[in-house]
Amino acid sequence: MNMRFPNIQSGRDFVGLDEHERASRDQIQSLQRERLAWSLRHAYENVPFYRQKFEAAGVHPSDFRELSDLAKFPFTVKQDLRDTYPYGMLAVPKEKLARVHGSSGTTGKPIVVGYTKNDIDMWADVMARSIRAAGGKPGMMVHVAYGYGLFTGGLGAHYGAERLGCTVVPMSGGMTERQVQLINDFQPDIIMVTPSYMLALLDGFTRAGIDPRSTTLKYGIFGAEPWTNAMRQEIEHAFDMQATDIYGLSEVIGPGVAQECVDTKDGLHIWEDHFLPEIINPDTGMPVQDGEYGELVFTSLTKEAFPIIRYRTRDLTRLLPGTARPGMRRMEKVTGRSDDMIILRGVNVFPSQIEEALLATDWCAGHFVIELSREGRMDKMTVFAEARQEHWDGEGLQAHAQRLAKHIKDTIGISTAIAIQAPNSVARSEGKAKRIIDKRPKD
Ligand code: DLL
Repeated sequence: MNMRFPNIQSGRDFVGLDEHERASRDQIQSLQRERLAWSLRHAYENVPFYRQKFEAAGVHPSDFRELSDLAKFPFTVKQDLRDTYPYGMLAVPKEKLARVHGSSGTTGKPIVVGYTKNDIDMWADVMARSIRAAGGKPGMMVHVAYGYGLFTGGLGAHYGAERLGCTVVPMSGGMTERQVQLINDFQPDIIMVTPSYMLALLDGFTRAGIDPRSTTLKYGIFGAEPWTNAMRQEIEHAFDMQATDIYGLSEVIGPGVAQECVDTKDGLHIWEDHFLPEIINPDTGMPVQDGEYGELVFTSLTKEAFPIIRYRTRDLTRLLPGTARPGMRRMEKVTGRSDDMIILRGVNVFPSQIEEALLATDWCAGHFVIELSREGRMDKMTVFAEARQEHWDGEGLQAHAQRLAKHIKDTIGISTAIAIQAPNSVARSEGKAKRIIDKRPKD
């Protein structure tokens, strides 16, 4: 598995990048072929679930020769992970695990994922790469405000920052006042946190009377939930910092599956030497061409404890060619999950579209929740949108609401009721924001 690549790209500053980040597309693809053959065999030979699934689909790891052969193999879905709870997806004996993580989800059993020592090592490598792509350098101080615990955010960020040679402040989520104080006193260069909690920290700075633009923070690495470019501008301006997007999911490794480069901010480079992406049509399951939108599917190439084959993420995006890392494709910012798609009187809408519309106004800072209810036989959507302090004078609020409702109608095509809320009245998240409250009767 150790292919060595010379620095084949010329005319670019690849100083400090590892060999796979410098590799060409052809080199990455030949590495993927080699690694995928191993990963399929590894899953088949060591996880009864995969053996049965492959056999039921009439495929064997020896049928894999070209990357396009992957499409012959069956998908894995979240329910499969629940059905095999807690350890049915492991490819190594439990004693070989260095760590487990899990996600609770809102309903049903949690899912459990496991890591060998080598898996933790690889994860630290891809996270270190991600932090570097976001602007991080050895010697910088990183304030980690992703939750520590079964959630992969905190420890994933922590190990990556250490691997890069940074100093870590392992803050975890919550205790907003404390966070503000420590950011002010410890003077970190980087913050890693969900974008919605970053907005809560912004409130905290205002309450403490500290100018958020005066902090030492230069780079923010935000993910774990969808956020828009409008939110990026809001945060960059408020903190005078560079904000990039980090993507990942527990089933694949945790954060660090893909990361935006700070110099291009043009979507997230997928670390394709470890994670192979596909985009499929969510209705037919057929792969689509690069550039076309659909559901993101991942296959792990090097994971030992928890190999994952063709995992349907439910995240919607598209693949684009590499730019700052030419050998690795990019994924466009994830605008939503198929689970979060609201169908309102036949029109599909994602919370991120509402976020964009809100941030296009000058009176809302992006704190909002969407309530779905039913009136008679019609579904109704109400956006509870919080006003900024300086716009909370009561005057003009009705006009703001009407303008916003019209803007949403004109751009997204749906009718919404806008309920403008007082400053600090919409619940803040300390991790992933919950944007939708569904009060429609279950029928
Ligand atoms: O959220 C891992 C993570 C931690 C990523 C910290 C980035 C930063 P899970 O809890 O398993 O893992 O949730 C994974 O979160 O399928 C997406 O729906 C969503 N998600 C993660 N990153 C992004 C992002 C972590 N940058 C699920 N943009 C994924 C949009 C994201 N959605």
